[in-house]
Amino acid sequence: MRNKIILVLIIFAVVSLARVASAEVDREKLLKDPGVYATFAVFKVGDQWSQMDKEARASGVADVKKVFQKHADKVTVDTYLLRGLSEKADFFFRVHSTEILDNQNFLVDFMGTTFGKALKNTDTFNGITKALNYVPKFPEDVKAELKTPPPQGSPYVVVVPVRKDADWWLMSQDTRTALMKEHADATLVYLKTVKRKLYHSSGLDDLDFITYFETAKLDDFNNLVTALLQVKENHHNKQFGEPTLLGSIRPLDEVLEILSR
Ligand code: HEM
Repeated sequence: MRNKIILVLIIFAVVSLARVASAEVDREKLLKDPGVYATFAVFKVGDQWSQMDKEARASGVADVKKVFQKHADKVTVDTYLLRGLSEKADFFFRVHSTEILDNQNFLVDFMGTTFGKALKNTDTFNGITKALNYVPKFPEDVKAELKTPPPQGSPYVVVVPVRKDADWWLMSQDTRTALMKEHADATLVYLKTVKRKLYHSSGLDDLDFITYFETAKLDDFNNLVTALLQVKENHHNKQFGEPTLLGSIRPLDEVLEILSR
């Protein structure tokens, strides 16, 4: 009887350990919480990839998928296709985790695959998510409107790196809040068609912010940016884009399949 109980306990422990080992990181939480690190890694496929034979490319693709599985307990990775909409790069990853070391370890492994070795890493941006800085001081009606649920399942992504000038940071918090209220007022009509996420980069990169958007309506996005270029806060944008990434949101398999054609 005693041996049976011990055996059951051992089986239970092994099963639990296996579960923990294969557990995937909580994606929803990483995409919502403050204090999460994001790395945007942008790549161009080199000619050597298309010169490889079909089997070598298929095995390279399989290795990439294994790297994604290996790191799934630490990082969540979103994949995007740029090819056709950009001459500078073919695709990019948005990697999230609570330790930037995990983003780095994933990307180092990815770049070590046969496919990774055939790539040029054209850009990398790093940032962290934070609690809202200005919204808590906004009027209640604006705060309520900002809670409008964002669109889901949008096909397009736009990423705009932003750097502010020294004057921006030297202004008082109240002055910046007033300017950001003007920023928010110009954007409210786009809440239903544009989903957004903000990353803070000062000190972690040459940028101050990485702004990230998903939409099905690029015409709305164009109007939104035009509206923002007309508010006073824009005087303080020392860098806006450069590069702007415009692509489509695609699963890894599709990105790899397209880039292996
Ligand atoms: C639906 C569209 C948008 C809405 C509703 C929106 C709203 C907001 C709000 C409320 C904040 C303040 C967040 C806080 O309290 O910390 C903010 C910050 C910011 N937004 Fe937007 N925004 C939109 C689009 C854009 C676009 C298109 C850009 C530029 C490409 C942009 C750039 C920024 C930047 C850089 C900040 C950070 C400013 C700072 O903390 O100093 N936003 N946005």
